Amino acid sequence: MSTALWEGGGHAESVLQSILPGGQLIGIDKDHEAIERTKERLKEYERSFTTVHDDFKNIKTILLQKNIAKIDGAILDLGVSSFQLDDDYRGFSYSQDAKLDMRMDQDENISAYEVINRYKENDLARVISGYGEERWARRIAKFIVAKRAVKPIETTFELTEIIKAAIPKEARREGPHPAKRTFQAIRIEVNRELEGLAKAIEDFSEVIKSGGRLAVITFHSLEDRIVKQEFRRLENPCICPPDAPICTCGKKPAGRVITRKPILPDETETNENNRARSAKLRILEIV
Ligand SMILES: C[S@@+](CC[C@H](N)C(=O)[O-])C[C@H]1O[C@@H](n2cnc3c(N)ncnc32)[C@H](O)[C@@H]1O
Repeated sequence: MSTALWEGGGHAESVLQSILPGGQLIGIDKDHEAIERTKERLKEYERSFTTVHDDFKNIKTILLQKNIAKIDGAILDLGVSSFQLDDDYRGFSYSQDAKLDMRMDQDENISAYEVINRYKENDLARVISGYGEERWARRIAKFIVAKRAVKPIETTFELTEIIKAAIPKEARREGPHPAKRTFQAIRIEVNRELEGLAKAIEDFSEVIKSGGRLAVITFHSLEDRIVKQEFRRLENPCICPPDAPICTCGKKPAGRVITRKPILPDETETNENNRARSAKLRILEIV
């Protein structure tokens, strides 16, 4: 039996087509709506795939509960989906007015509202600078704290206006939308997107059969850096001093990176889907 793992929605159908007959696909997403939508979309395959509402970092527990020892491969399609960005009530997007939310998993307690209204100024600046790589992070944090002292900041448009006011006009003239970096940062913080990513990749490498592949698609440099470094470590885990004549640490490679450079979308794909522009695909083949 062939077993594959998929996360999200878009790739599931082509994976299913390549593993049928006989294969099984498990779809993991921490967003209830993504699960429901995909179940509906793929109902004709219902005997060949199951969905799990969970964080993919819990892959070992998920497989244990399903009594599955090893899988043939996995795709991790990271980040936020178009549905989440475009839904006018999820609060992910600076171009839709909505309550500040940004939770992928709506069972979680901490939403963007809590981050924006409760974090200390220093912590806000750290998040916006660290996860958004925003050079005006300190000013944005200061403006947020000043504004919320008057009244809580409740909506995406309120936040966007504060960010615009905080970034000097000349700096806003070029580049992406001025709120893009801050929104990315808050979303990463709310969903703890980078926390545990390296460990999740290691866990996947341990549950995929020899010869199987782990494919990871990222959408920004911070997550791509983690994937690249973790793949490199799994390929060469030896921790012996570089001048040691022989390896004594005993750590063996878990896989071989088959994408020296990440695979990028071609023009046809980016013409069809503008958001694919920032996607990078890296693949580790398990030894
Ligand atoms: C880029 S989208 C995938 C989109 C999908 N491939 C499609 O084309 O519709 C990312 C999805 O992964 C989910 N997600 C992100 N991080 C996750 C995690 N750590 N655990 C489970 N699901 C996650 C999000 O909720 C979102 O639905």
